[in-house]
Amino acid sequence: MDIKEVKIELGKDWSGYQDVLVSALNNKNAFVSKINKYLIDNAGKQLRPVLSLLAARACGQANELNYYCAAVAEMIHTATLLHDDVADNGDLRRGVPTVKAVFGQAASVLAGDYWLAKALDLLTACNPQILGCYTTAVQELAEGELIQMEKSELLDTTEDDYYTIIAKKTASLFIAATKSAVLAVEAPENYIKAIVDYSYELGVAFQIRDDIFDYTPSMDTGKAGGADIKERKITLPLLCAMKNSTQKEADGIRKMIAQIENTFTKGNETTDSEQQIIEQVNDFVQKYNGIASAQKMLEQHSRRAVEALSVLPDSKEKSRLVELAEFVGTRNR
Ligand code: FPP
Ligand code: MG
Repeated sequence: MDIKEVKIELGKDWSGYQDVLVSALNNKNAFVSKINKYLIDNAGKQLRPVLSLLAARACGQANELNYYCAAVAEMIHTATLLHDDVADNGDLRRGVPTVKAVFGQAASVLAGDYWLAKALDLLTACNPQILGCYTTAVQELAEGELIQMEKSELLDTTEDDYYTIIAKKTASLFIAATKSAVLAVEAPENYIKAIVDYSYELGVAFQIRDDIFDYTPSMDTGKAGGADIKERKITLPLLCAMKNSTQKEADGIRKMIAQIENTFTKGNETTDSEQQIIEQVNDFVQKYNGIASAQKMLEQHSRRAVEALSVLPDSKEKSRLVELAEFVGTRNR
């Protein structure tokens, strides 16, 4: 699927969204503008605003409020990545150095605060229900990251923990992007529920695919591979491999990961012994089919996302939402 084509189909609604985003971020200060420009020039797929506008059009008539909802989704997403790259020591994103790598940690955190504050500013022009979608998402995003942090210390992540983390750190913003959009077009309750269910499943599938990338260094994903184990993050490919192995082997792998020092207390460099552990964990995931098993689970979520849309009337936008559910599960970036 070509997302560029969808953006063209969205026509004036896509330009309406872009205008709101660019004018909200306009700033006279040279340093602030430089960082904002860097982020706008290196924008990603902008999947959340695409979903937001498609959901609005699949459930009603998009209006000016929808441009705000779409812009807020993209701005909060960008803010989370600016913070995440500090939390995760991420130096590469979308194939280019991160703001953290180019401008430093403090600038990345503060730019994230700025984009978040600008998003909140746009929300003051929206109704309390729309505002509520985003306050819920921001709480969940932060909570998801904190639970992930706790689990990276304890290393006792179960499949349930994993799903809790990804529902909060990823699906929550997909839900806010689309729920706010369908509230803005005053869609009926059953459409809202369909869109929320779809977005949850899509968000989960999206994050599982992202976690598969980390074990697939041959893919040109625009991010560094092997980072999750370095960060002591136990994600679905590894959990699946553990399920396919013996308990003894799975316990051995957890013990091995425990030898990697937590980056919250240590610097960014990977020692030779840590590199060896990362390689051994990778071999374990390959040996026990962790990637294929995780991909199977992801496909279930993509299917459920499509099923959730069945109550919506047929439209070009609904077909695009269906295609996106398939795209998310097979994307390479
Ligand atoms: C990327 O995941 C990060 C997220 C999905 C959420 C990040 C959220 C926060 C830092 C907390 C909330 C912040 C704000 C501003 C509300 P990943 O690290 O698994 O993937 P990656 O490979 O893209 O880094
Ligand atoms: Mg990260």
